[in-house]
This record gives sequence, structure tokens and C-alpha cells, in this order.
Amino acid sequence: LGRTVHHHESVGSTNEQAFRLAQDGAEHGEVVVAEQQTAGKGRRGRAWVSPPGLNLYFSAILRPELPPQRAPELTLVAAVALAETLRDWGTEAAIKWPNDVHLDGRKVAGILTELSAEPERVHFVIVGVGVNLNSQAEHFPEELRDTATSLALATGKPVPRARFAAALWTRMEEWLDRYLEEGFDPVRARWKALSSTLGQDVLVRTDRQELRGRAEDIDPSGALLVRTEEGSLERVLAGDVEQLRP
Ligand code: BTN
Repeated sequence: LGRTVHHHESVGSTNEQAFRLAQDGAEHGEVVVAEQQTAGKGRRGRAWVSPPGLNLYFSAILRPELPPQRAPELTLVAAVALAETLRDWGTEAAIKWPNDVHLDGRKVAGILTELSAEPERVHFVIVGVGVNLNSQAEHFPEELRDTATSLALATGKPVPRARFAAALWTRMEEWLDRYLEEGFDPVRARWKALSSTLGQDVLVRTDRQELRGRAEDIDPSGALLVRTEEGSLERVLAGDVEQLRP
């Protein structure tokens, strides 16, 4: 990953830029990085705050041989690599379902996966990753100050961005190769070991419903299984999880 890097001072969104490059034939493993994004995208239509110079914003172009319905598994591949890289930096990073990475209970990184596919075949997948490396409290907008953090805030030391990016891309490539060779099971097992969500009482918001219960497991496709107070087991494919304190 990242043997070809397209570096930009400023783009709207590295995901959009990577999507265009992929449509024009860019190869598996090419990466788009930006110093800042003026329209960084988060999940569920949200924005990703992307001030210049401090943090890591990139999108990897992947061309795996996968049926489109398995593409979301790549998000968990990236989450595992992210959490491991952050742990190598001396933290206790944890994954919050589906793919937020947290330090000390605050979000430090997010992943946005986008897909171009036919019904039977993936053309390409864009895995976009934003990691707060050197943001200080004052760089976060007021409404994020209690819920966001950066690696530098957690460790008390500035983070050399190029070194972090190289370490992360190596990890992502290792997990990607393993996933393509051995399937989702080893990724799922590692994801579970790094998860802060499983075993917790949660409130899940999806487009259709709100659900309260105990997060029991993720199923073989990465969906969250929630045991409700009424005792039924609900399968959640996409949504937001609030971890409730007992
Ligand atoms: C989320 O947690 O909501 C996902 C955030 C993903 C942000 C990254 S930053 C690089 C890439 N380009 C984007 O526009 N978004 C992703």
C-alpha cells in the first residue's frame, strides 16, 4: 500500500479524489493523501474536520476480487490495522463498532469505505481513513471537544506523520493480504479482541430504529448482534452505537 502516493496540499475529499483516479484506471494500492480537506466526509453524511498540517487524511484504492456484499469487511480490516498501529504507539486503542477507533473513550480515527461495483463484481473500493495525530483541543470544534482526541493528546508527544502513515500502510497491507488469503475469520477474531463494544450495554441508532440492549457479538459478515431487553437477538448492519455506562 502506498508505493504510489498522490500528495495534495488541499482537496475537497481524498475519497472523492481517489474515486476519480480509480475511474481513470489507478491501480490497487495507490493512495491519495492531503494536508487538508475542505470537504472531508464522515459516515452517515457527516463532515470530517480536516485542518491543515496536523493530521493524516488518506484514501487507498483497492481492487480485491470480492463480491460487492463482502466489501464492508474491508472496513474492519482497516480498523484492526489502525488499532494495532495506535497500540504500537503505546496506547490502548480500541475499536467501537463498526469502525471508529477510540483512545481513552474518545474518537481518534474514522474510516469511510466507498464502493464501485456491478452486482457480481467489485470494480474498486475506496478505503478513506482520517486519524487525528497532532490536533490539540483548540483545533476541534466546540461540539467535538468532549468526544474527540488525538494521538498527541493521548501520549503527550508530537507524532511524525510520515512515520505513522508508513507504519499504518504496512499494517493495512499485512491484514489485507491475510484477509484475501484466509478470509474474514482471522480479521473478525482480532476485531473482537480489540473491541470496546462487545459485552457493553448499548443504544443503537439506525436509519429505521433505535435499539437498546447488550452488544453480544459480530456475525460472520461484520454485523453487530444486540440482545434486547425483551430477549430477542437483533442484527444491525449499519448505525451509530452509544455505549451506555451501567
Ligand atoms: C467517520 O468516522 O465518520 C469516517 C471518517 C472518515 C474520514 C476520512 S479522512 C480521509 C477520507 N476522505 C474523506 O473525505 N473521508 C475520509
